Amino acid sequence: MSDAEALNQRLVDELADAGVLSDRWRPAFLAVPRHLFVPDVIWVDAGDGTPTARRREDDPAAWLETAYADGPIGTQVDDGATPDTGRGLLVTSSISAPSIVSRMLHYLQVEPGMRVLEIGTGSGWNAALLAHMAGGQNVVTVEIDPGIADRARKTLAEAGVSPTVVTGDGADGYPPGAPYDRVIATAAVQRVPYAWVEQTRPGGLILTPWATAFDEGALVLLTVDEHGTAHGRFVDNTVAFMWLRAQRTPPRTAGRPDRRRRIVHDSAPRRGRLGRLRRLVRGRAAAARGGPKVRRRRRRHRRLRLLGVRRPVVGVRAGHRGRDRAPGAPARAAPPVGGDRGRLPVVGGPRTTAD
Ligand SMILES: C[S@@+](CC[C@H](N)C(=O)[O-])C[C@H]1O[C@@H](n2cnc3c(N)ncnc32)[C@H](O)[C@@H]1O
Repeated sequence: MSDAEALNQRLVDELADAGVLSDRWRPAFLAVPRHLFVPDVIWVDAGDGTPTARRREDDPAAWLETAYADGPIGTQVDDGATPDTGRGLLVTSSISAPSIVSRMLHYLQVEPGMRVLEIGTGSGWNAALLAHMAGGQNVVTVEIDPGIADRARKTLAEAGVSPTVVTGDGADGYPPGAPYDRVIATAAVQRVPYAWVEQTRPGGLILTPWATAFDEGALVLLTVDEHGTAHGRFVDNTVAFMWLRAQRTPPRTAGRPDRRRRIVHDSAPRRGRLGRLRRLVRGRAAAARGGPKVRRRRRRHRRLRLLGVRRPVVGVRAGHRGRDRAPGAPARAAPPVGGDRGRLPVVGGPRTTAD
């Protein structure tokens, strides 16, 4: 058995022991080795909260261990604008944590032969697992970033799996492949795009991470009915995903949002009504800033947000690796599959309703 096979076996056993990998999905996880989908350059938290490039060639053993740890791995920062020799600001693509992938696949209830649409191809690992279950010809995966999509296409071909990889905005779904039995998003939305409802057959399921600027994120499972509406529930509230590009919040590019805000602020007029308004807003903002302890906590949360981690989970280390559960640790961040917590209050999209 190779090192990679041994590590994969260990990971699969750990996921099964933690109750987050069902017997149905076990063969797929064993057959689709995760390290094949991990790029040679990955982005890890160097300890100060900023994603830093790590090259496989510098420490192949550490790279392989990371590939088989139960944690997300940053695979792109700043929408690709930062060279892979440096330090980034925001993780913009990743290969999701295995325990989250396995839980999502469980909730999705995929059967062999079903038509599946994935939004957010990323590394292609989840698409490969879906293809193993549903059949490669039945899986379409959409990625907005052309470079990431190209790499996933290549990796999937090397792994011998053949889902259709589409370069495009997943918010539009992929009409030529519709209707789908299952739609799964691996990037978070605030509003469920109605195209996903339209392209799902009645009785089909949509699973997506859902969050708002004020709430940290949960998985929503919707069932589409014959009237073109979708009803659903929260099935898990322990996830934190990067946003679907068009729904990022606060809206920002890969630039430095704080600096941009300051420039706008400083160029505002200092006199007259606008000046008074500006002073008033500043005064209120200062009052809301709180003491040094509060500011320190906010700074830490800001750093985590930059890494795509919107809620540090208790018992889990901080940073992008922060969502990793320490091996053997109690699975607070990864409850056994099948949990069904809370009802969905409102899900956006023109005719998407809560039940
Ligand atoms: C968490 S990663 C996906 C992980 C992936 N499923 C895997 O197995 O590695 C989220 C991905 O969604 C992509 N994405 C963001 N917005 C998108 C959009 N509007 N349409 C399609 N893909 C999008 C990002 O570029 C990123 O690669």
